Formats: sequence, structure tokens, C-alpha cells
Amino acid sequence: MVLAEIETVLLDEARVQVGVAELARRISEDYQGRDLLLVGVLKGAVVFMADLSRALTVPHEVDFIATSSYGSATETSGVVRLLKDLDREIEGRHVVLVEDIVDSGLTLDYLLATLRPRRPASLEVCALLQKPDELRVEVPVRYKAFDIPSVFVVGYGLDYAERYRNLPYVGTLRREVYERSGGG
Ligand code: IMP
Repeated sequence: MVLAEIETVLLDEARVQVGVAELARRISEDYQGRDLLLVGVLKGAVVFMADLSRALTVPHEVDFIATSSYGSATETSGVVRLLKDLDREIEGRHVVLVEDIVDSGLTLDYLLATLRPRRPASLEVCALLQKPDELRVEVPVRYKAFDIPSVFVVGYGLDYAERYRNLPYVGTLRREVYERSGGG
């Protein structure tokens, strides 16, 4: 069942899960015998991170970091700030940063610049989605499941005004939803 507020489903639940399983397979292969730490970027990556973590066949730990970018509900402003730092040190650890979506790339660029000086043994990025046409800074995304067009999407962790994160698929919202809430 698709929610009435959804205009189109870009990736249905089955496709999302195939993408996650493939990423988990690659990461499990690459990190065998290494001390892996998954770092989820709150809040968008929570749903993805939970599925990815359960699909990994290598032992690992998880931690979370939170950023915020000033701007409207559907467009990033380019100014990123740290809202919550990691609980533990990452020096000497193999870190995979887990993001829901790479849009302009500014959030990831900021996070990589923040984490690199802490001297992890390695630092890679895993993102479920990317909007390639929106990229403003070059970011090295080692693991990615899907490229999508430059449209605002919700579901599978992604929100509009904090809603729709729980949808098991990724889709676009009907125009009326933005107009009703006065956002955008
Ligand atoms: P970036 O810094 O422009 O790459 O944006 C990254 C963050 O913006 C993501 O982690 C999301 O939280 C948010 N974001 C970007 N595009 C979308 C979208 O289409 N829907 C919901 N959130 C998005």
C-alpha cells in the first residue's frame, strides 16, 4: 500500500532491500578481519543503517553523528554544523560513514574533514542514494546503491518536515503536501 501523499515511488521496498543487501555483501567482503565501525549520520541514515548492520556478516560496532544544515525544508543552504559528535574515539579504526543520500555533497565533505584529523585507520563512505546532478563538491563515495534524479524524495529514513521516514520505499511527495504545510 502506497501512502496517499506519495506522488511516485522511485524505489519500491524490494529494490531498496536488494540495494542494501548488495552493499552489505561488498562491505562484508572488504572488511573481513578488520575492526569495522559504522558511523550513521542522524537522523536520515537510521533506517538504512539498521538494515545494513543486520545484513553485514562481519563483526562491527555502530556510532552516530548528527549534522544540520541551515536552509529551507527541501533545499540545503551549504552551511553545515555539528549537532552531535561521536561517543568514542576513532583513531586506528576502520570507519564507514553511513549516509542516506548525497545531494550537494557538502554534509559529507564537512564530516570527512571533521573525522580525518582523528586518524582513523581508514575512512570510507556508504550512501544509499545519490543525486549526481546536484554535486557541488567532489566526495569519495565508495559504496552506493542508487543514483536518482534531482527531485526531493522521502521514505526509508528521508523526511519532509520530520515525516515519512518510516516508509519502506523511496518516493516523491504530491505538490499539495508542500503547499498545505507552507514549507519548501
Ligand atoms: P548534502 O549536504 O546537500 O549532500 O545533503 C545531505 C543531506 O540533505 C542528507 O543527509 C539529507 O538529510 C538531506 N537531503 C538531501 N536531499 C534530500 C531529499 O531528497 N529528501 C530528504 N532529505 C534530503
